[in-house]
Amino acid sequence: MILGTREVARGNNNIQLDVDDNWRVPREFQDLQERFNVMAKAVARYQEEERRNRETAEAETRHKMEYLANLGHELKTPLNSILGFSSVLKQAKPGSVNESDRKEFLGHIEKSASHMLGFINDLVDLNRLEMGIHQLQFEDIFIIDAIRFCQASHRKEIERRQIDIRVMCPDREMKVKADERSFNQILINLVSNAIKYSPEKSQIDICVRSGAGGNIEISVRDQGIGIPEDQIDEIMLPFKRVNDPNARDVQGTGLGLSIVLKLTRLLGWEFRIESEYGFGTTAFVTIPKEQLSSNENSRSAA
Ligand SMILES: Nc1ncnc2c1ncn2[C@@H]1O[C@H](COP(=O)(O)OP(=O)(O)O)[C@@H](O)[C@H]1O
Ligand SMILES: [Mg+2]
Repeated sequence: MILGTREVARGNNNIQLDVDDNWRVPREFQDLQERFNVMAKAVARYQEEERRNRETAEAETRHKMEYLANLGHELKTPLNSILGFSSVLKQAKPGSVNESDRKEFLGHIEKSASHMLGFINDLVDLNRLEMGIHQLQFEDIFIIDAIRFCQASHRKEIERRQIDIRVMCPDREMKVKADERSFNQILINLVSNAIKYSPEKSQIDICVRSGAGGNIEISVRDQGIGIPEDQIDEIMLPFKRVNDPNARDVQGTGLGLSIVLKLTRLLGWEFRIESEYGFGTTAFVTIPKEQLSSNENSRSAA
């Protein structure tokens, strides 16, 4: 008993006394030994809980600092470009910068500012999703309209890189009850990735089909650089990107897929990626059949 209390005083709570189950030892003393053991166990449990809480708090702080470092890095690059080019223009003597250079510099400033705005918009969305305050407004949406909108949003990039986009949607009257902004955001992110991580003149297929049990599956398939299998889960986390030598010059912040994952979860949809490294990637979004709208207000009837 004395040894036990000494151990506890030293901070070792993983100690249990042998209870003297012997007629010569008074019952009160046995009780005391038993209670000592219960107490030592409770203290050990409490200390273990404390240790775990401290570890979780430390991991959270580390994660937050990493997040802030990434944030700072993402904002620094375009800001440096904006500051650099604007100070060149400001300090240039009259007539020393010709019209085409002036336009080029202003173009860089505009591009960096719009990159920053896109990044901040993504960040705000991700934050709203994480805090559970993202507002959804459900309405009937023709799937084909969402796809067309997404194609139109990328028209310039599609033409510039001569990408051939094929849309396969057997039923153009197919509608779902969904939040239009989220639906567009999901498709735009997936198609944007398919374009960015594919070589010029390659083909992208956007395919809508009825899958298992009447669910609707929308897939975006590219013939791009692909994703190593062991990194598919990781790239769904904010700021995570594949360090691929073929994508060194591809601009991105690593927020797109984390937004897609969160939005699809919020809508009750499923999202997954299949990829063959070096050959291409397919992103699948599955919409449960319960969210299919009836066809009574179809476009042809309207
Ligand atoms: N279709 C794709 N083909 C190849 N790699 C992809 C594809 N989609 C996503 N990735 C990889 O996943 C990472 C995360 O994607 P995302 O969150 O959209 O970020 P971003 O597009 O800003 O880089 C990308 O940086 C890229 O490495
Ligand atoms: Mg992206």
